[in-house]
Amino acid sequence: MKIGILGGTGPQGRGLARRFAAAGHDVLIGSRAAERGELIGAEDAQADDTNRITGGSNADVAAAAELVIVAVPYAGHAALLSALATELVGKIVVDCVNPLGFDQHGPFPLRVAAGSAAEEAQQLLPDSTVIAAFHHVSAVLLDDPTVDHFADDVLVLGEDRDGVSVVCDLAAAIPGARGIYAGRLRNAGQVEALTANLIAINRRYKTHAGLAITGLT
Ligand SMILES: NC(=O)c1ccc[n+]([C@@H]2O[C@H](COP(=O)([O-])OP(=O)(O)OC[C@H]3O[C@@H](n4cnc5c(N)ncnc54)[C@H](OP(=O)(O)O)[C@@H]3O)[C@@H](O)[C@H]2O)c1
Repeated sequence: MKIGILGGTGPQGRGLARRFAAAGHDVLIGSRAAERGELIGAEDAQADDTNRITGGSNADVAAAAELVIVAVPYAGHAALLSALATELVGKIVVDCVNPLGFDQHGPFPLRVAAGSAAEEAQQLLPDSTVIAAFHHVSAVLLDDPTVDHFADDVLVLGEDRDGVSVVCDLAAAIPGARGIYAGRLRNAGQVEALTANLIAINRRYKTHAGLAITGLT
């Protein structure tokens, strides 16, 4: 698949890009600045030795990709998606954005009028299939080439069964990880918010905590 990553120049986008390229996908790193996307894409392609990572502007990447991942901070989420609605028509848009705030007591979930970043994305992109996924996989571990096994389950939420299925398969590009259907988009808010708990765990126990679901074979 040709996968575009909006905001792919950040740790989460780069980490996912590395894993998707290693699994045989072509990855396009998107940036607000085309040259930064090109530079990071070229750097990562060289580091990974796959020649499957390139980059450009978010708009070019959104237009060229078959499936697009949104990996920008929540502060830039709505403006970016509104601007790219035309490029994203008919595509699966995977939202991994966690709307979080940080204060002296640590991380906390932000209230989102639409219910969640994913629901906001679906409102802004009525002609795209929005799927929520990849909220809890650590960017640090994704980007670490010495990490070759993940015990994580990737919660995948959406309204469209085929879209959910595509993204569950994509999650399996992360070695050892499973994609698990976890409900409709109206349940994305607590999935995004749970990241605040994981960050609190990381800070207390100096780790990169992930999520695993018991009871599934
Ligand atoms: N880090 C993690 O471990 C992790 C794990 C799971 C999910 N997430 C989620 O993934 C998303 C990205 O995380 P990250 O740590 O990679 O974030 P980040 O480094 O803060 O941002 C990623 C990229 O987004 C672009 N960007 C920054 N501000 C923007 C704005 N206002 N509008 C549009 N683009 C903007 C920047 O790229 P350009 O300057 O090149 O445009 C930046 O490199 C977040 O929503 C986060 O909640 C992160």
